[in-house]
Amino acid sequence: MNRRLFWKLCLIIVTGTVAFFYAIYMLTSRTEEGMSYLAENDQEQLIAWGREAEALYFAGDQEALIAWLDTLMERENTWAAVVESKLHSIANHPDDQRYYKSFRLGRSVRWKIHLYFKTNPVMEVTFKNRSTHFLIRLPQRMRPGVYWGQARIILQIVVPMLLLAIVAIILYRHIMGPLRQLQLATRSFSQGQFDVQVSQRLGNRKDELAELANTFDQMASRIGEMIISQRQLIADMSHELRTPLARLDVAVEMLRCDPANESCIDRVEHESQQIRKLMEDTLTLAWLDNERPSLNQEDLDLVDLLDVVIRDARFEFPDREIAANFPEYAPLEKSNNRSLGQALENIIRNAMRFTPPGRCVNVSIQQHSREYQINVADEGPGVAEDLLDKIFRPFFREDRARSSSHNSFGLGLALAKRQIEAVGGQVLARNRDVGGLQVEIYLPIQQASSE
Ligand SMILES: Nc1ncnc2c1ncn2[C@@H]1O[C@H](COP(=O)(O)OP(=O)(O)OP(=O)(O)O)[C@@H](O)[C@H]1O
Ligand SMILES: [Mg+2]
Repeated sequence: MNRRLFWKLCLIIVTGTVAFFYAIYMLTSRTEEGMSYLAENDQEQLIAWGREAEALYFAGDQEALIAWLDTLMERENTWAAVVESKLHSIANHPDDQRYYKSFRLGRSVRWKIHLYFKTNPVMEVTFKNRSTHFLIRLPQRMRPGVYWGQARIILQIVVPMLLLAIVAIILYRHIMGPLRQLQLATRSFSQGQFDVQVSQRLGNRKDELAELANTFDQMASRIGEMIISQRQLIADMSHELRTPLARLDVAVEMLRCDPANESCIDRVEHESQQIRKLMEDTLTLAWLDNERPSLNQEDLDLVDLLDVVIRDARFEFPDREIAANFPEYAPLEKSNNRSLGQALENIIRNAMRFTPPGRCVNVSIQQHSREYQINVADEGPGVAEDLLDKIFRPFFREDRARSSSHNSFGLGLALAKRQIEAVGGQVLARNRDVGGLQVEIYLPIQQASSE
């Protein structure tokens, strides 16, 4: 079974999930990082305060510096100071002077700030002499990442939900599209549109759902054909019943007047036999059409079978010749004596019936590598070329008026074709060059295994 849809879903879900988590992770960490720096103007403001403090410090006016710091602290509701640091090594000699030069007491205004600090960090602007520092606890108004809480909810809950909803919609449409088409087709079919087809509506999809659509199409066309042929069969049968029933009515009327009229009693009997035959043949035809049974059950010898049929035909048509050209044996595996016998009988009886008295019907068996070919060639009028296919349709008669007077319903070849197909064979008819019809039957010597 084709597993395209399975692999497609696997690919979408496996790669999609990994890509999805990676994208959410990247988006969250980038946003967090972006939010973790002080705003540009806040950085400039802190540096400007540092420079102001530095100017006051180097002017030597400590009182002014204290007053300025007080004002700043009050205004920004924070703590600020100017502090000196004198690093003095107690153990070990400092090798790396850079550390001493770049030593800080607080955080640089350019550094990233952790968004989860409970209290605001102390920021620092180092004076030119590198040992004096302006320190200020970051004013609350400058604290970055004010909206980080909301951003986190959006990035970790809302965006994933939206993305997953979009994926779900795409997957749903991908799967439900064909199922919806199938539903519409089923509805149309149930409303009597038997030629409905789904697979062509799915474009060039080739997955499991396309297979389902194909199976549906096959089922719909098979059931559609069955329903149409059943209707046709019922209509034809009702039509055919009218003639024998009308004759029965007449015979019954006549019997009312003369109950002892023998010929009328014979007529009633004959017509009821005809009706029974018509019913039985139609039912067999319907069964063969609907069930398409495989009737391969028994081994048989075609020569024996044809001998019996030919003997009966000679008896029935004593004024016609029938010539048989058979090998000694023609064994056939897993066939069906009864069906094949009936089919051959129908074909040979037709040939005898259409062959004028005194003329000959030839029946031959030829063995090919995989099949037998049985030819039934008569010397009758043949069939118009454009009707050669139609003679295998139920109730088809070339000359309806003449045939009905011969009590033939046009079911013989239709039945024969289905019976031959039920044992794995084929039948066709062609006109002979010398005049007359040749019916050719092909039967496989060995049945193909039913796997
Ligand atoms: N050997 C033949 N030569 C000429 N026409 C034939 C021959 N066999 C069949 N046909 C034509 O095909 C039609 C259908 O044949 P089919 O055997 O199905 O019906 P039927 O013989 O008319 O009736 P039924 O077989 O039901 O008694 C015939 O009515 C006839 O027109
Ligand atoms: Mg017939």
